[in-house]
Amino acid sequence: MSLSVKHLLGIKELQPADIQTIFRTADNFKQVLQRPIKKVPTLRDTTIANIFFENSTRTRISFELAEKRLSADVVNFSASGSSVSKGETLIDTVNNILAMKVDMVVMRHSASGAPWFLSQHVDASIINAGDGVNEHPTQALLDSFSMKEELIKKGYKGDLKGKRVAIIGDIMHSRVALSNIFCLKKLGAEVMVSGPPTLIPKHIHDLGVKVEYNVKKALMWCDIANVLRIQLERQNKPLFSTLREYALFYGINKQMLDGLQKDIIIMHPGPINRGVEISSDVADSEQSIILDQVENGVAIRMAVIYLLSGKRDLEA
Ligand code: CP
Repeated sequence: MSLSVKHLLGIKELQPADIQTIFRTADNFKQVLQRPIKKVPTLRDTTIANIFFENSTRTRISFELAEKRLSADVVNFSASGSSVSKGETLIDTVNNILAMKVDMVVMRHSASGAPWFLSQHVDASIINAGDGVNEHPTQALLDSFSMKEELIKKGYKGDLKGKRVAIIGDIMHSRVALSNIFCLKKLGAEVMVSGPPTLIPKHIHDLGVKVEYNVKKALMWCDIANVLRIQLERQNKPLFSTLREYALFYGINKQMLDGLQKDIIIMHPGPINRGVEISSDVADSEQSIILDQVENGVAIRMAVIYLLSGKRDLEA
């Protein structure tokens, strides 16, 4: 079992077989995570640096836990409080970390393309933990893995081929949306994006997705709705009137779901703006698998790190 890539920079570069390999490996690691001792010794000779130039809760903790469950040594770096504020370049920062004998780098950066740039200048494997508005590959992998798992729980085959997934909300500023589109298309799902016209990129249908500006119609069409956060921090001019208006026309609430006459799966990558893109009674409902997504993130990241490490002694 190995991947066709040296780095995980984006889903765009992965083959469908790579995604299936990651899922099979994550299945093994999920079993490890259910044992009393949730750890394997596989990466005890490996050091991994998590370098985060942008805020994170889920991704950062999930990567750190995944690395520790694989017995790797872990160093954490955040831009705030570092020599980045003194003008050090990205390559200098990373090369200094690598000089301390680090084998792998997990990086989040606000600049789209930063992990690609880095992969051309350093020898270590790079894992993209989210770059600007471009890609968030491990989020898309854990999202599709969680969809498959939930479909199996509901008595389906767990195959996403032909399943209808609506990605709803701020598509324009979302790296989760782009990585999900690439991942779902490679797995054979039908994908629709929905939200206000000002938050949907003009040429998105070139990626082979349907576009629906009416969120109720998108919900009626889909089997699974992945609801995205309004990314106000990336909007330098107003793209809708008020959050209240957004919630009224595009927010997912219980009344909308009750009117569908079918039971769709609800997802959100987090962090949630409760009462804006999703109401609390939906986020916390039986239909929501938001916390399953978070749980699966650890197994998916263990799988990605293990497969990129080149180790072949999986004791799962
Ligand atoms: N889903 C996600 O990337 O969350 P964080 O920003 O908290 O890592």
